[in-house]
Amino acid sequence: MRTSFSIRVLGLLLTAACSQQAYADSGAITPDSIHIQRCSACHYVDGKSPGPEFPNIAGQYEAYLNKALAQFKANKRESDAMELITSLHKQQELVILANYYAQQKPDTTPSITSPDLTLKAKGEQLYKAERVYGIACVDCHGADARGYVRKSPRTKATRAIPRLAGQKPAYLMAMMQKYSGDSVNHGMCAMRKAGKTLSQNDVKALVEFLASK
Ligand code: HEC
Ligand code: HEC
Repeated sequence: MRTSFSIRVLGLLLTAACSQQAYADSGAITPDSIHIQRCSACHYVDGKSPGPEFPNIAGQYEAYLNKALAQFKANKRESDAMELITSLHKQQELVILANYYAQQKPDTTPSITSPDLTLKAKGEQLYKAERVYGIACVDCHGADARGYVRKSPRTKATRAIPRLAGQKPAYLMAMMQKYSGDSVNHGMCAMRKAGKTLSQNDVKALVEFLASK
C-alpha cells in the first residue's frame, strides 16, 4: 500500500520537475533553491491546490504551516504523501517553503457557491455552540473562520489556529472525520476533543457552512 503510493508520488514529483510553466508566479524565490517543484504537483506554485484531497495552503499562517510541516517530518501527523515529501527536505528548507506559501494570496472565493441553506444554518449553529471546555469552534477559529496567530505574553509561545475559510470541502470533511475517530495520531489535542463531539451529520453541516464562507 505504502510502496505503491510512494511510486505514485515519485511520478508526480517527476512530472512537476518537468513542468517549468508552473513556476511562472514563484517570484523572488527560485524553485531551484527551495524545491518548490516538490510541492507544486499537489499544491501548485501559488498554494491553491488542485484536487479535492490536497489542502489549499496559500495564505495560511506561517506559524501553522511550520507546525504542520514539522509534525509530518517527525511522523507525528499521518499522511503518506507529506511524510515522504518532508523526509526529502531539510528542516531549514521547510521553513523557507512555509514562509513562501504564507505569503501567497489565500483563495477567497467560497468553494460551495449555492449551499443547502438548511444544512448551512445547522452548520453555523454548531460552529457557534459551546462544545469542548465550554468553548465553541468560533472561539478558536473566529467568526470569519480565518483563525489567528498569537504570542502568549507570559510564555512567549506562539499559538496558531488555522484558517478554514476558503479550504477545500473534501479536505475539511476528511480532517473532521479524522478528529472524530480514534485514529488521529498527532498533536491536535484541542481538535481531538472538539472532533469527538461531532456526528457524521454535524460534520456535513459544518462543512456546508465553512465551505460557503
Ligand atoms: C503528492 C502530493 C503532495 C505533495 C508533492 C506535497 N503535498 Fe502537502 N499535502 C498533501 C496532502 C494529501 C495533504 C493532506 C494531509 C493530511 O491529510 O493531513 C497535504 C498537507 C499539507 C500541509 C498541511 C495543510 C493543513 O492545512 O494542515 C502543508 C503545510 C503542506 N502539505 C505543505 C507542503 C509542502 C511545503 C510541500 C513541498 C515540500 C508539499 N506539501 C508537497 C499532498 C502533497
Ligand atoms: C481550543 C481551540 C479549538 C477549538 C474549540 C476548535 N479548533 Fe479546530 N483547530 C484548532 C487547532 C489548534 C488546529 C490545528 C491543530 C494543530 O496545529 O495540530 C485546528 C484544526 C482544525 C481543522 C483542520 C485545519 C487544517 O488546515 O488542517 C479543522 C477542519 C477544524 N479545526 C475545524 C474545527 C471545528 C469545526 C471546530 C468546532 C467543532 C473546531 N475546529 C474547534 C483549534 C480549535
